[in-house]
Amino acid sequence: MVSEHAPKVLVASNRGPVSYTLREDGSLDSKRGGGGLVSGLSAVEDKVWVCAALSDGDREAVRRGVSEPGVRMLDIDASVHADAYNGIANSVLWFVHHMLYQTPVEPVFDAEFRRQWASYEAYNRAFAEALAEEADPDSAVLVQDYHLTLVPGMLRELRPDLRIGHFSHTPWAPVDYFRLLPDDIGRQVLHGILGADRAAFLTRRWADAFIGCCTEVLGGTGRTRIGVHGLGADADFLRRRSREADVDERMATLREQVGEGRKTIVRVDRTELSKNIVRGLHAYRALLEERPEWRERVVHVAFAYPSRQDLTVYRDYTAEVQRVAEDINATYGTADWTPVLLHVDDDFARSLAAYRLADVALVNPIRDGMNLVAKEVPVVSDHGCALVLSREAGAYEELGEDAIVVNPYDVSATAEALHEALTMDGDERSVRSERLAAAATSLPPQQWFLDQLDALLG
Ligand code: G6P
Repeated sequence: MVSEHAPKVLVASNRGPVSYTLREDGSLDSKRGGGGLVSGLSAVEDKVWVCAALSDGDREAVRRGVSEPGVRMLDIDASVHADAYNGIANSVLWFVHHMLYQTPVEPVFDAEFRRQWASYEAYNRAFAEALAEEADPDSAVLVQDYHLTLVPGMLRELRPDLRIGHFSHTPWAPVDYFRLLPDDIGRQVLHGILGADRAAFLTRRWADAFIGCCTEVLGGTGRTRIGVHGLGADADFLRRRSREADVDERMATLREQVGEGRKTIVRVDRTELSKNIVRGLHAYRALLEERPEWRERVVHVAFAYPSRQDLTVYRDYTAEVQRVAEDINATYGTADWTPVLLHVDDDFARSLAAYRLADVALVNPIRDGMNLVAKEVPVVSDHGCALVLSREAGAYEELGEDAIVVNPYDVSATAEALHEALTMDGDERSVRSERLAAAATSLPPQQWFLDQLDALLG
């Protein structure tokens, strides 16, 4: 891919690799993000990343012509972006693929939905037009996720010469659930993605669900090839980063907060409805109730970082997480034991410190495209850690054999799984943890990205 004849590579995603904040003195501060795409793209020389301006700082950067090489930020009208991102992407498409609706009362597809859908189309069109402008003849374009499902189809019309891929980082809904969408909208989403030469997913299960929807709704996937690429943890980065001084400092603080000789059950998530944090807390409460021998001997270290706080349902969920954690602490806590250590302020170094300390990692999503926490903890862990893992996480396909697997709705079974994980014999835990780490790192981000590119161009 880095040879002289390699084509130019374009990536399109809602959130880009850099963000700007406006300082009080009027200057702009830039911050680079991480993640699979950032490391994946580092292996490619001739590239452009097209993304949306997400904040006032980002918009100001676009207006001032401030940018990073290889990044094109689109200043889409703020209300159009809000309708597309909050209204359609996060409140409709995310809900459909994660099966989050309370179906007796939602969803309701009315005139307001149609208005927001028009914004989603405009937002997708802005991306398609920018990509058409940036692309050389025969460039490869990799379009990311549920925010941009219409881009492949729109771009194909503008530039039939391009090689276009689409990658879904989420689960894909089974057809009966996908059919909650209005018929014309469901068809538009599928046709949009099928505008790509290749549509790829994190697991076979999500790819099959997509094929199922195309078959039932459209009669097939047409000429589009379907692929599976399971993103792994970035072992080199994680092992190096988790040994830095700021992580050691946070470990010392956490150790003190947990208390001498106690075991830890660790979870780290965005405060996201699909992550099932509240049922995780109920399972922990059930453990303390059913097996009182664990009282004073275990701490649930739960990091739940703010996410999508523009949406009421996310703010309510955040409040519920805090309420349940406080209730458990009020019921069972003692003078020198806080049963739940909940932190809500995002701190990557502290997350790595918790990974290193973990005796048990709890990853119990309702549905999840992959879930990288399940893969990262065994890689970073100091003394091997047991993994309680939902069978509805994409990571289950690769880690299921060495994890303790749970139905995420079954609180009692999750409590029992926590007990089993806490009592797992030390040798067995080390052996399983090593196998989990090996499986978790089998497809590092650069390889994951280059495989997709090869498959698209091949
Ligand atoms: C998670 C999902 C991705 C999605 C991202 C958006 O990481 O796995 O599929 O693109 O969230 O998050 P944001 O904070 O940009 O809404």
